[in-house]
Amino acid sequence: MSRAYDYLLRERPRALGAWEDFQRDAGSRLEPATRALIELVTAAAARGDDELVRAARAAREADCSAEELVDALLLAVPALGFTRIAWALDRLIEHGLSGALGAATPLAVTVEEDLALGPVAALPQGRAVRRGGPGRAVLAWRDGDEVRAFKAYCTHHGMELTEHCIEGRRVTCRQHGWTFELPDGRCSMGDAWGLTELPVTIESGQVSVRWSE
Ligand code: FES
Repeated sequence: MSRAYDYLLRERPRALGAWEDFQRDAGSRLEPATRALIELVTAAAARGDDELVRAARAAREADCSAEELVDALLLAVPALGFTRIAWALDRLIEHGLSGALGAATPLAVTVEEDLALGPVAALPQGRAVRRGGPGRAVLAWRDGDEVRAFKAYCTHHGMELTEHCIEGRRVTCRQHGWTFELPDGRCSMGDAWGLTELPVTIESGQVSVRWSE
């Protein structure tokens, strides 16, 4: 999710493990829609634009209507103030709330970039491997001269999938335990939640992927 999170995960696994256990348990007794609406309000209170939109999309995936998203945000006006909630509503409208903020609705494509993954021969075979840098992490899979690549971000709430998440072909998100299987990026929660695949080019034995968002 961030370099700081990766650092703490690597250097202070006990401290972060307790936090992840807390995250997993908190809200586990709530209906998914209720939990999603609470997470939406939390995102409006504490996080930035991307987190808010992700939380709104997750709430729509949990069968909350656009009106229910607005209701949840309005209920938070006494705690967060009208200015904060107006900001949150502005963001959701910008990202398509006034139409339908369904799972299949992509956010606008604003960035495209080619990322070099190095020589194809340097990628291990038969297991997932993480490449790329901050904000552009990639999971790659090699089978002979064929390479597939996916964004290394959980499709639930966008948690970065680090090296610590990889076990062979399986990648487990440390936040709430969703699992993904390579080589096709399939998610344990269903086909709609698979990892985002990236186009791969191999030229003169060098692998690159086209990143877009
Ligand atoms: S962020 Fe929830 S399982 Fe990955």
